[in-house]
Amino acid sequence: MNKTLICMISFALLTGACGDARKSEESAQNGQVDLSHEMLMSDESPLTEMPEYSKQRPGESATLDRSFENAPPLIPHRVSGFLPIKIDDNKCLWCHMPEKAPEFKATPLPATHMTSYRPVIIEKDGKYLVDAEEGEVVEKDLGRFNSAMFNCSQCHVPQAQITVEIPNVFDPDYRGTKEKSRSNLKKKMGEGVK
Ligand code: HEC
Ligand code: HEC
Repeated sequence: MNKTLICMISFALLTGACGDARKSEESAQNGQVDLSHEMLMSDESPLTEMPEYSKQRPGESATLDRSFENAPPLIPHRVSGFLPIKIDDNKCLWCHMPEKAPEFKATPLPATHMTSYRPVIIEKDGKYLVDAEEGEVVEKDLGRFNSAMFNCSQCHVPQAQITVEIPNVFDPDYRGTKEKSRSNLKKKMGEGVK
């Protein structure tokens, strides 16, 4: 590669990088945090109609492809009648506990929901520390549902039909076809960490 070419490439890279930095600064000043160009603090909505949630009962709906590998699946059925979700009254568990799921043809809770990933806290020389190595996956099989996960809708949300036109340019790339419809996070939890 000759010197002029290297110089041109470096210049392009440099100016490109400078341009991006300026753009993100402007966006931050405008209160915009993503690509939707909507004002974060505004009450104005781009929706022209009420979003329409699934009216199908569990057992009548069809599951949706995972948004990406090991993403929490979207809820395809209606949730009316199952809310609010309380720690001592969780209707989602009626059908999704592994021993109940086959009867309802529901996807059983995955193994991660029966596991605690919280490390033990220890005291050493008056300091409280996590009893784990850097990058170590601490995993305790509970043999029961981990009630720290009780609030299903913190991670699983129902899908709605909306009229707003924001194209989805994200194209998930699953490593296997199974991962489109089932999770295997328990097996993969340490992947890329160590
Ligand atoms: C009466 C049984 C029943 C109840 C109660 C129930 N579900 Fe379901 N759920 C199902 C069935 C059956 C499916 C599979 C889709 C279908 O057949 O409608 C499903 C599908 C799902 C899926 C998608 C799973 C996948 O593999 O893509 C999620 C997520 C889910 N439900 C979460 C919930 C949450 C959260 C609640 C509580 C708010 C809940 N469900 C309450 C029976 C139930
Ligand atoms: C802290 C976030 C979180 C909470 C809370 C949570 N889930 Fe999940 N859920 C996930 C994630 C992430 C996955 C996919 C990866 C995995 O854990 O296996 C998942 C997967 C699932 C699956 C698909 C299992 C499979 O084999 O494909 C079902 C069904 C499910 N969750 C139901 C529930 C129900 C019902 C509750 C409430 C009792 C709940 N989840 C609470 C994050 C959560």
